[in-house]
Amino acid sequence: MKLSSRFSHKWMNSSMLLLVFFILLFKCFMYSENLKSIAESVFLSGIKFPEIHEKEDELEVLLPPKDCDFYTGKWKECEFLSRQVTCLRNGRQDSLYQNWRWQPRDCSLPKFKARLLLEKLRGKRLMFVGDSLNRNQWESMVCLVQSAIPPGQKSLGESGYSSIFRIEDYNATIEFYWAPFLVESNSDNPWKHSILDRMIMPESIKNDGENWKGVHYLIFNTYIWWMNSPKMKVLKRGKFDESNVEYEEIERTVAYGRVMRTMAKWVEENVDPNRTSVYFMSMSPLHIKSLDWNNPEGIKCARETTPVATMTAPLDVGTDRRLFVTATNVTGSIKVPIYIVNITTLSEYRKDAHTSIYTTRQGQLLTAEQQANPAMYADCIHWCLPGLPDTWNELLYAHIISHS
Ligand SMILES: *[C@@H]1O[C@H](CO)[C@@H](O)[C@H](O)[C@H]1NC(C)=O
Ligand SMILES: *[C@@H]1O[C@H](CO)[C@@H](O)[C@H](O)[C@H]1NC(C)=O
Ligand SMILES: *[C@@H]1O[C@H](CO)[C@@H](O)[C@H](O)[C@H]1NC(C)=O
Ligand SMILES: *[C@@H]1O[C@H](CO)[C@@H](O)[C@H](O)[C@H]1NC(C)=O
Repeated sequence: MKLSSRFSHKWMNSSMLLLVFFILLFKCFMYSENLKSIAESVFLSGIKFPEIHEKEDELEVLLPPKDCDFYTGKWKECEFLSRQVTCLRNGRQDSLYQNWRWQPRDCSLPKFKARLLLEKLRGKRLMFVGDSLNRNQWESMVCLVQSAIPPGQKSLGESGYSSIFRIEDYNATIEFYWAPFLVESNSDNPWKHSILDRMIMPESIKNDGENWKGVHYLIFNTYIWWMNSPKMKVLKRGKFDESNVEYEEIERTVAYGRVMRTMAKWVEENVDPNRTSVYFMSMSPLHIKSLDWNNPEGIKCARETTPVATMTAPLDVGTDRRLFVTATNVTGSIKVPIYIVNITTLSEYRKDAHTSIYTTRQGQLLTAEQQANPAMYADCIHWCLPGLPDTWNELLYAHIISHS
């Protein structure tokens, strides 16, 4: 909905068309919580619109003052997005990737209504616990709800492991907690974790777990950090940073199973299912080899502008599905329900949705030189926002509003 290009000064003089504009503008508000428009583009700022009180009935819209000048303003993006994910702002030219919506075969996802979710979150905490993909999803969630909150009622704070978005009116928080393996590891430092030689303590979760107690919606994930070697180093004796540390190398699925059981045990011992809902996000896929989707011209995900169209053979982008089986098996065998949000397959189609070269590296935007070398620098792990993680949150939202 590129309003700016559609509305030229010429036809704004006609009052007839002005009416059309009002209708379109109204539609924009109606859809302001939709994927496409959430975080940027649609909100014309600089114009002081009154707050929109859209309770359950979205038609209850307060009209802006008659003398308001709609045409002076600027395009605004979600103020809470980090530079890592704002692909358009970072130079991406195509924006089609923002336009796709997930359509389940047998039903439709409920439309995301920020206010409805905020009501569910009143007096509560929602926390994403995991790696940078879960952080990606947390950022998306913050942007999905933030437009429904008046200025001054929302704030973003970071303290070590946690990033906390506060919504004052609702006494609610949407948080992210850094724990890339869920259990204790040598990669737990929130600022310094680019460690190639990764090592974990699969049975140790207590320290971090203390910070998750009492949270009302817990959303776990862990996957990407497991993928740089087929075996995982597991601490046997000593401390991570000691030179004479003893460890053993354990097959990925076996170590992952141990971690899942530790997580499940923590949930059983610390979660009151009457108070807390627990979710586990399945693996977020990578798009590293363009031959996986039959594009010999491709360079990783860098030249992709559309999702994978239906293919004759099933798509295989190298996701380790054995970990999915393990996660399902473990979470299915405990007393407290852990709901698995199955984002894997639907995300595998989205080769077009990664941040690619329109991102940061160690906090700095890629240089032109780096951007010119996608084979080396394209990030085909994380996702642009607005974008695919909004869909993950729609799936989560559907579950939250129908089960609590
Ligand atoms: C705010 O929410 C927290 C839980 O997140 C709760 O412990 C506290 O009592 C709430 N405060 C008020 C004033 O409702
Ligand atoms: C949860 O609620 C049910 C019904 O109110 C009750 O029977 C059960 O004991 C509660 N469970 C816990 C762990 O408090
Ligand atoms: C599932 O879990 C059970 C018990 O924890 C185990 O015996 C079984 O081998 C597991 N199956 C798979 C496919 O991982
Ligand atoms: C996850 O969803 C896909 C379809 O998107 C389905 O084929 C697959 O069986 C599901 N996996 C599990 C473990 O539910």
